Parts: sequence; structure tokens; C-alpha cells
Amino acid sequence: MNNASPLQPAQTQDAPAGTTLYGGVTNRRVTVRDLAKAKRNGERWAMLTAYDALTAGVFDEAGIPVLLVGDSAGNCHLGYETTVPVTMDQMVMMSAAVVRGTQRALIVADLPFGSYQESPAQAMHNAARLMKEAGVQAVKLEGGERSARTIELLVDAGIPVMAHIGLTPQSVHAFGGYPVQGRGDEAAHQLLRDAKAVQQAGAFAVVLEAVPAELAAQVTEHSAIPTVGIGGGPGTDAQVLVWTDFAGMTAGRVPKFVKQYADLRSTLARAAAEFATDVREGTFPGPEHSFS
Ligand code: KIV
Repeated sequence: MNNASPLQPAQTQDAPAGTTLYGGVTNRRVTVRDLAKAKRNGERWAMLTAYDALTAGVFDEAGIPVLLVGDSAGNCHLGYETTVPVTMDQMVMMSAAVVRGTQRALIVADLPFGSYQESPAQAMHNAARLMKEAGVQAVKLEGGERSARTIELLVDAGIPVMAHIGLTPQSVHAFGGYPVQGRGDEAAHQLLRDAKAVQQAGAFAVVLEAVPAELAAQVTEHSAIPTVGIGGGPGTDAQVLVWTDFAGMTAGRVPKFVKQYADLRSTLARAAAEFATDVREGTFPGPEHSFS
């Protein structure tokens, strides 16, 4: 919740000097200005995906300063094989839930496949839906040089844009899978051009997905805006993980770049199996769970 008057000079809305993104901003949401300041101060930060109010609230309370309502919901939450089928209506519904479940985090929502590539006007219409109907504070879209014009238009309209370059999952069928990007001279130069193009277009941050660590560090060094790595090694300004991967909810193999911080899938499966056994055997509900 933002308690500051909209008439206050923007300067006074900054977190106090010397405080961190986690410790400094407690009575309002994190803003893109805070992230720009973190970049200047060399402060690293974490971003997680979230697709619902409950999970988003947990991450918000834990001090994750930026939450992404990613179209990874397609394969991580909605049961599709890829992000491609995700619709604007689904993104609006999930984003609104994440906004409702949080108080401090900056909420960024993905523009899904087919919602911005047709024309800048289409991008504007759909970005505005995410801002007005869901209440997010920023949007994310994929593509470097090819999306620069669209980014510029959204930024000119007052919409903060996070860019996403390197491996862009909405192009999975063009890539023929999820290969590491930026390997070899030409591909590395393209990535550098993409990073420069989105920065010049006004993006406030850029996701670098599945690129060699050295290249991601090089982009970060030359970038005035925060870089957010996923499979980009330790040299980026921020790191993002898909929550179902980091919490051990994903079935089967996870990508090499994922660190699993919990094993929620086993924990939940064990709890569900125990519940089923208790009901079968008549040991649940006991007297302590029953009304007299
Ligand atoms: O949709 C998503 O979760 C993403 C992250 C992988 C950055 O775009």
C-alpha cells in the first residue's frame, strides 16, 4: 500500500539512503525507481514467479521485492506443455490475484504470446488491461531489437516495461526447444545489440535467460538498467526462478540452472497419502476434530 501523497515530490518517496530493497521499503510497494537505485548501489535482488494470491503472499512476506506473474504459468500451473497457449484473460485473472495477495512487492505481468506482436496498438491495449484490470505495476515482453518499438510506445504511455532476451520461451517452436542462446561470436553480438536496444527503448530492467555466464556478466557491466538472470550465471544484478522449480513442486527433471530450495512435491504427496490412509482406516476425524 502506498501511503505517500501523490502530490509529494517523487524524491521523498525513495527508500531512505543506506537501506536495502528488503529493509528499506516497508510501507509501500517497491518501485522501478528503487530498482534503479539498487543498480547504482550494486545491490542484488531476487525475483520469483507467482500465479495466485496465496503463494504470492508468502513470497511477499518473505521479502521478495519483485514478483513476476509469468506466462510460465502455462506449463507450471495450468497444465499446458508450453507458454504459447496462455491467454490475456488468464494473465489478467492470475495477475489480479497476485496483486490482491501482496502489499510490498512490485508486480510485473507477462504479455503472453500473440498479445503484443501484431502491432504497438495491440500491445498498448493489452498492457493497459494488465495495469487497469489486474492492477500490476509493470509488464514484461519478449524480444530485443525486434520488440524495441513496442517497448518505446508502452514506456511513452507511462507503462514500465521489463524486457526479456536470450532464450525467449514464447519462441519455443522456432528454437526447436530451449537451447542456450548467445554462444558463438554472432549470437553474442546479437545479444549485446538486443540488450542495448531494450535499454534505449526505455525498459527498466531486462531478463537474460539461458546465456553463457561470461556474456551475461558482460551485458550487466555495460547496462545502465538491472539485468535479471535465469540461467545466466552469477554476474547479473538480480536472479529470477520459477517458483514451482525452486520449491521442488515440478515433476521430473528441472533445468540445470535451478536450485531447489525445498521439496514441496514430496511433502504434499506424503500429506495427501497420509490423509487418504487416515480416512480409509477411520482414524480421521478424531474427537479433537469433531463438534459435540
Ligand atoms: O514466464 C516466466 O516465468 C518468465 C521467467 C522465466 C523469467 O518469463
